This record gives sequence, structure tokens and C-alpha cells, in this order.
Amino acid sequence: MSKVTVVGAGNVGATCANVLAFNEVADEVVMLDVKEGVSEGKAMDMMQTAQLLGFDTTLVGCTNDYAQTADSDVVVITSGIPRKPGMTREELIGVNAGIVKSVAENILKYSPNAILVVVSNPMDTMTYLSLKSLGLPKNRIIGMGGALDSSRFKYFLSQALGCNANEVEGFVIGGHGDTTMIPMTRFATYKGMPVANFLSEEKLKEVAAATMVGGATLTKLLGTSAWYAPGAAGAFVVESIIHNQKKMIPCSVFLEGEYGESDICIGVPVILGKNGIEEIVKLELNEEEKAAFAASAKAVHATNAALKEVGAL
Ligand code: 2OP
Repeated sequence: MSKVTVVGAGNVGATCANVLAFNEVADEVVMLDVKEGVSEGKAMDMMQTAQLLGFDTTLVGCTNDYAQTADSDVVVITSGIPRKPGMTREELIGVNAGIVKSVAENILKYSPNAILVVVSNPMDTMTYLSLKSLGLPKNRIIGMGGALDSSRFKYFLSQALGCNANEVEGFVIGGHGDTTMIPMTRFATYKGMPVANFLSEEKLKEVAAATMVGGATLTKLLGTSAWYAPGAAGAFVVESIIHNQKKMIPCSVFLEGEYGESDICIGVPVILGKNGIEEIVKLELNEEEKAAFAASAKAVHATNAALKEVGAL
């Protein structure tokens, strides 16, 4: 029996639960929210699609009742407020730090062995906060940002190439922020061939820039932050863990010297399997990429420092 809990049944959490159920990633998916009835209602609504869509996963909703989440294998934390147009993810720290910390503590009371997937923003800092405050081994705390950013990168590449997004490979490392993301254009391919064979340097710069503000562009269009790709990216990370797929996915993980950084959670490619982070993949970065990674880490460190100012650490 595999069980996944999604905390926060807002747009991102509910989408994540829906994708998990539709893809039958787990036998049971529990949604928990603080708003009375919302999780219960969304779970019932989704269960009423089971015979239409042909899935067997059981969905359960509950209002703040952590006992229902007991013995989860993986827990996705989406709680907190989303950003509004014009806001950065970093501005959410004051409110979201308190929420994420208390959610994570409650989860562990009932699922002491769970692997945590952190989605709440600012994502790298919320992952770091969870790691520091819970004292769990680093393989069990994973921030999902790189999975989302890489999917957006592949989307923008496919648009520029005029091709199917599934024929494009590419990934994004660094922080999950408008200025801290590092789309790895040098490693991106179309059917195994470098994208630079098809697109000009200028076009590739445009693709990277669009990727970096991918979330902000949607926030402006929607009036709140996006949910389909963030929810699906969370489910994608969970699937690799629950099904021990050993996929290589860029995620925010705790570094202890890798990539020249320590005491930080930031996006790098990792292998995800039943133990959570099975391996941190080391890339040979060139000088420009190394400088970009160091600058990204510096910005994430600065946001992490605010955790002390708001009393969360
Ligand atoms: C995004 O990039 C919500 O941070 C998320 O859309």
C-alpha cells in the first residue's frame, strides 16, 4: 500500500493530487487543508472522475486532521500564500515560513519516515527551513522547483524550435527565483542534437529569459501564481520516489560542498528513488556557469538569512 499526502488543497495542491490519482502513482492520496470542507469537497469531486478517467487511486480529504495522513510514504507541502502579480517569491517568506514549519512538524508526528517534497515559496528557502528545523537526513527533503523550471524551459525551447516538447531535453539548475534560475542551454538537445544547431544565440538567450520569468508571466496573466505545471511537477517528483524510477530531476537539495556550496538547498540534478535523493549528480560547469551558480547561491543564502529575521530559525 502506498500513500501520499498533499498538504494544502489550493490550486497547486489539488492539481498535484489530481495528477497523482489520475496516473495511479499511489494507492491512496490524502489532501489536507486548513479551510473547512475544501479538501473533502475536492477529494469527492475527484473521486467522481474515477470511473470516467479509469483510475483506482482512493482520494481522501480532511480539514487539519493530521491523523488521517498517518504512515504516508511521501508528503507534498504546498501550504502558504501564493504570489500576486508584481510580487517576488521571496516576499512570501514571512507568512509562509511559519506555516511550512508547523505543517512539517505535524506531518512528522504521524509519518516519521516520510519523504518531504516542498513546493511552497520561496521554495529553496522553505526546503532549507524544513531541513534545518526537522533535523531529518538530507535525502528525505526535496524542493521541487527544478522539475517545474525544467519543464518550462523545454516548453519555451519547443516553441522556439517549432517541435514537440517531448522531443526536447533540457534542465534548469540554481534557485527557483526570477533572477536565480540557470537554464542550462549548453546541455539542451533536440532529438539528441545540441539546440545551438537549430537556434541562434540570440534566440537561445530569449528562451532562457522567458524560462526565468515563466512563473511571473503566468502570475500576471492569472492574477495569482500558476498551478497546472507546478502541481504536475510535484507529482512527477513524487512518482520517481514512490515507483523508485531513479529519474534524474533537478531539485532543491542540501549541498555540503557539491558545486562549491554548503549550508544551502538549491537546484541541482539528482537521482530520485525510494530513498528520496539517491545521488547528487555532479556536472562539469564551465566558468560562466560556475559564476552564475555562485551568484544564484549567494541570492538564496540572502533569502535564507531572512528566516532568522522572521524568527523561523
Ligand atoms: C511558479 O513558478 C508557483 O513558484 C511557482 O509558478
